[in-house]
Amino acid sequence: MDVHILGSINVDTILSVDALPAAGETVLAGQVTRLPGGKGANQAVAAARMGARVSMTGAVGADTDGAWMRGVLAGEEVDVGGIVTLPDVPTGAAMIAVDAAGENQIIVAPGANALLAPATAQDSGLILAQLEIPLDTIAAAFAASAGPSLLNAAPFIPAARALFADTDILIVNQHELAGYAEAPAISGPAEAIAAARMLRAHPQQQVVVTLGGQGAVAVFGDEALHAPALSITPRDTVGAGDCFCGALAALIAEGLDLAAALPIANAAAALCTQTVGAIPAMPARAAVMAALAP
Ligand code: RIB
Repeated sequence: MDVHILGSINVDTILSVDALPAAGETVLAGQVTRLPGGKGANQAVAAARMGARVSMTGAVGADTDGAWMRGVLAGEEVDVGGIVTLPDVPTGAAMIAVDAAGENQIIVAPGANALLAPATAQDSGLILAQLEIPLDTIAAAFAASAGPSLLNAAPFIPAARALFADTDILIVNQHELAGYAEAPAISGPAEAIAAARMLRAHPQQQVVVTLGGQGAVAVFGDEALHAPALSITPRDTVGAGDCFCGALAALIAEGLDLAAALPIANAAAALCTQTVGAIPAMPARAAVMAALAP
């Protein structure tokens, strides 16, 4: 099955800082790097490097950033035929501060992503969407799709709950899970499994929760599983969640179940934290399988 990504395309400006700024605080950055990103584009490249045949629906502005991002994705063998170029609006941009421990803060200026219309969505294969584009566009694509619908409900947007009923596999991190489930902070696998069961919108829905250094959990039917993370010291966590989602989509499209797919997606996300930026950090499948070898 092919993987179709419906999502955002951004140019990321990544600023290295010793410590992330608190509210009202000014901090000085060291290195400043412009790299390709956006949750949709990141997930498209992660899935392609995992070996999937990938197409993407998205929007860029009629500017040099848009042309650059289209070229980056095409260079990763992502089918960019569904990416529209919109006049009079800039390509999406993200300002990202990364601290010495690899943690980050991200502010996104959506630009063209906010204008991605439902009519530009496609309807075949497995579809994977995130929330940096209009929710109506995602709803229309899920309604039209005959294949499995995967939703990475990030960033946390309360109104996105309306999409959950039409989602086959819901993917959230522990903070998003706490927000959507209106649960207290989630600190470990057992709490994540309990909250994911509460969040499930229909009995067939599978819910996957990423837990950073604690790996990921999934609930499906009456079952639940926890796949621990690779033990690794992160250098830059930007795009690690996207890497997990893109890799997971590629593996599900191949026919793997969650028990087989989660450890591989975890390993991909761990490797992603070893390189600065999002798209440049997405690992090739061979590297992921080598990291999992005993
Ligand atoms: O998840 C990381 C991504 O979030 C960045 O690439 C940035 O563009 C924002 O979309």
